[in-house]
Amino acid sequence: MTIDAFLPWTRWFLAFHVISVMAWMAGMFYLPRLFVYHCQVRVGSEESERFKIMERRLLRAIINPAMIASLFFGILLVLTPGAVDWHAGWWHSKMTALVGMFAFHGFCSRWRKDFAKDQNRHTERYYRIANEIPTVLMMIIVIMVIVRPF
Ligand code: HEM
Repeated sequence: MTIDAFLPWTRWFLAFHVISVMAWMAGMFYLPRLFVYHCQVRVGSEESERFKIMERRLLRAIINPAMIASLFFGILLVLTPGAVDWHAGWWHSKMTALVGMFAFHGFCSRWRKDFAKDQNRHTERYYRIANEIPTVLMMIIVIMVIVRPF
C-alpha cells in the first residue's frame, strides 16, 4: 500500500530521515564509549554518578527520540510510491541490518540500566568491542541504500 499524496514530499521525508538517522547514530556510537569510560571509575564515586546522568540524558533526550523520528520518516518513505523495491536484495539487507541496529539499541538500554543500579556485568574490553557493532551495521545500511549492489 502506498499513498500518492506523499509523492511531492519525498525529498523532505528523505531529508528528515537522514537528519534523524544521523542523531540516532551519533548517540549509538557515543553511548558504548561512555560505558568504556564508566568501567574505569569506582562504583559510588562522583565520576560514576556523573556518567550515569550523561548516559541517561543521552539515551532519553537524543537516542530514543532520534530512533523514533528515523522510524517515523522511514515509514513515510515506505508509504511513498516507488521508494522501496520489495523484490530487491538491498532493501532486505537494509531491513536485516536494521533489526540488528534495533537489537543493539535494546542492549544499550539494558546496559545503561545496569550501570544506573551499579550492577554492570561487563568489562571495558566488552564495551570496546560492542562499540564497533553499530559502525559495521551503519556501513552495511548506507551501502545498501546508496550503492544498491543487488
Ligand atoms: C528506522 C527504520 C528505518 C526505515 C523504516 C527506513 C526506511 C527507508 C526508506 C523507505 C528509504 C527510501 C529508500 C530509497 O528510495 O532510497 C530510506 C532511505 C535512506 N535510509 Fe533509511 N530507514 C530506516 C533506518 C535507517 C538507518 C538506521 C540508516 C543509516 C544508518 C538509514 C539510512 C538511509 C539513507 C542514507 C537513505 C537515503 C538513500 C537515498 O539517498 O536515496 N535508514 N530509508
